[in-house]
Amino acid sequence: MSAIKNILILPGDGIGPEVMHEVRRVIDWMSRRRGIAFNLSEDLVGGASIDARGTPISDATLQRAKDADAVLFGAVGGPKWESLGFDMRPEIAILRLRSELGLFANLRPAIVYDPLIDASTLKAEIVRGLDLMIVRESTGGIYFGTPRGIETLPDGTRRGVNTEVYTTPEIERVARVAFDLARQRQQRVCSVEKANVMESGLLWRQTVQALGDAEYPDVALSHMYADNCAMQLVRNPRQFDVIVTGNLFGDLLSDLASMLTGSLGMLPSATLGQPDATGRRHALYEPIHGSAPDITGKGVANPLAQILSFAMLLRYSFGMTEDAALIERACVAVLANGLRTPDVMAPGCARVGTQVMGEAVVRELDKLLG
Ligand code: IPM
Ligand code: MG
Repeated sequence: MSAIKNILILPGDGIGPEVMHEVRRVIDWMSRRRGIAFNLSEDLVGGASIDARGTPISDATLQRAKDADAVLFGAVGGPKWESLGFDMRPEIAILRLRSELGLFANLRPAIVYDPLIDASTLKAEIVRGLDLMIVRESTGGIYFGTPRGIETLPDGTRRGVNTEVYTTPEIERVARVAFDLARQRQQRVCSVEKANVMESGLLWRQTVQALGDAEYPDVALSHMYADNCAMQLVRNPRQFDVIVTGNLFGDLLSDLASMLTGSLGMLPSATLGQPDATGRRHALYEPIHGSAPDITGKGVANPLAQILSFAMLLRYSFGMTEDAALIERACVAVLANGLRTPDVMAPGCARVGTQVMGEAVVRELDKLLG
């Protein structure tokens, strides 16, 4: 990999640009204090791109995403664009990025940070120390399967169709990501589908089991139906280490898991493609909180999920585990010091805005480096 690291920044809509501004502070700090050269470029995506260019993401932007070493994504969407046609929705940007860059493995960690334990709606003793990773397949399944569409039948009634479809290679490559992650964690994978009612789920189960038997005998593999998994996530979330599942179930279960931590504003994600012969892979990093139109422009958005997404970028795209851990420690330290944006506000803490939070992270980074 070249010494210069090319990052494409796509702030998007709503609070996206506000929280991205704070990441830039962290990136500046890294160049200054760690001597790491990043080559940053920025482009429009989502509603901002619809307004300026008439499309949620232009072909030129997609090309720039393909050429970059990593993409740092903010959030897209908002009430302004909600009435647009299906193909013109801001969300199309993220779906096209996933599909055209082949970003099939969506990693969604749900970590309960000790200073935020009371932010969870679950009892502290259920969620304390929670650290689970959901690996969601993100270029297949019912999101992309065909046939799809809405048709009018001869009798005038209408029919909407989507298709859940998975092939063995699609299942194997995402399961491999989950098994490999588990090896660096607690060596446990739970594979989730509805093999009791769906053929695609049955194939999923058989394929993951065969791969586990053949290549990952050291990883403990279990299987769970998706509805039971939703229940178990609320009942006893710490039973899980790595969960691997398809696109739609992963969408639902990762939202559920995020709320175990009580703080949507804290959770980053990574979406990875297949490494090529040189080990280079496309990758996109984004907070899971979305564009949050209700608080846009108020300067109160929590920038930590975006900053932690940048930490994931360093870890997974550049192998910079030490720097990633440094940023993660700085974020936790800021919380431990009692600084809180409104989304994670707690009694006795100091309520601060986006910018103060970003500055505090940089101050902690300085302290950690000594
Ligand atoms: C997510 C989002 C997206 C999805 C939307 C915005 C297309 O909910 O990343 O989880 O459904 O995948
Ligand atoms: Mg979702």
